[in-house]
Amino acid sequence: MTPGDVEGTASFLHINDWDGAKIDSLLDRASEVKALLASGDRTFRPFEGKTLCMIFAKPSLRTRVSFETGFHLLGGHAIYLGPKDIGLGGREETRDIARVLSRFNDIIMARTFAHQDLLDLAVYGSVPVVNGLTDFNHPCQIMADALTIQEACGELRGKKIVYVGDGNNIVHSWLELAAVYPIHFVCCCPRGFEPDASLTARSQASGISTVEVSHDPAVAVKGADIIYGDVWASMNAGQKEEGRSRYMAFDGFQINTDLFAAAGPQCKFMHCLPAERGLECTDEVFESEFSLVFQEAENRMHAQNAIMLELLGC
Ligand code: CP
Ligand code: NVA
Repeated sequence: MTPGDVEGTASFLHINDWDGAKIDSLLDRASEVKALLASGDRTFRPFEGKTLCMIFAKPSLRTRVSFETGFHLLGGHAIYLGPKDIGLGGREETRDIARVLSRFNDIIMARTFAHQDLLDLAVYGSVPVVNGLTDFNHPCQIMADALTIQEACGELRGKKIVYVGDGNNIVHSWLELAAVYPIHFVCCCPRGFEPDASLTARSQASGISTVEVSHDPAVAVKGADIIYGDVWASMNAGQKEEGRSRYMAFDGFQINTDLFAAAGPQCKFMHCLPAERGLECTDEVFESEFSLVFQEAENRMHAQNAIMLELLGC
């Protein structure tokens, strides 16, 4: 049983719940359904008669709209539960919420603060659970990023992806991907903002990818296929409130045209969004011809559709 399997019910909690072959087949499925939807065809309705329950303990634009729209376009109905609706772990225990929602719904998506809340939903629920971001990781985002790199660079295998910024939940999912899929991943962050050390060590020890942690952006980006950014303060409790003192630590880590010049002409820009333009990346980079950010945002829906098709056995 993989970490995402709970009593025979597969969930999607970490990218390395699946192996490289499964990721390839998921990406193929995502492309296939993306093309079908782009053609205007609306006859593929595998989620007809099914409901997706979406729990959000944090705000969202992309995750909420891409899951709801994607599930609807494939024939199903999605239900949104916002931060004030159920009070995950406050008004009611997570393990009780998991069992109640499993009585009504075919699949659950959750965005939580504590990663343990997500794990509890999967352990106590009896339907598949999809991770829509926790303080620890964000696997749906990196599956969408993988699809975007495949589209923009021809393939994902062996590509050099240099993340510049805070060693956060996005980085953790890149490390999870690198543990099962051959890429060259570099997390370039200020000292003290490194990703989880044990996850980094496990990703390196898998021997599948080249995985590095660097503190020198101009050196790290040389030959990169992708420079990847994210906010310097995440939605994790308290980070946004740290404000200026936190941002000062990132001096020299802004993604700007000088950094792209150091990388080389092949390099493209990605960002999970939302972005704080002028902080972690400049407007110029964001709006440049080498920016993939909106293609990347669209691919959230296609990657997630493929994930849900797999989990629901469609
Ligand atoms: N990238 C992402 O997850 O965006 P939202 O926070 O808007 O869902
Ligand atoms: N690291 C960011 C990602 C947002 C999609 C956050 O957790 O706020």
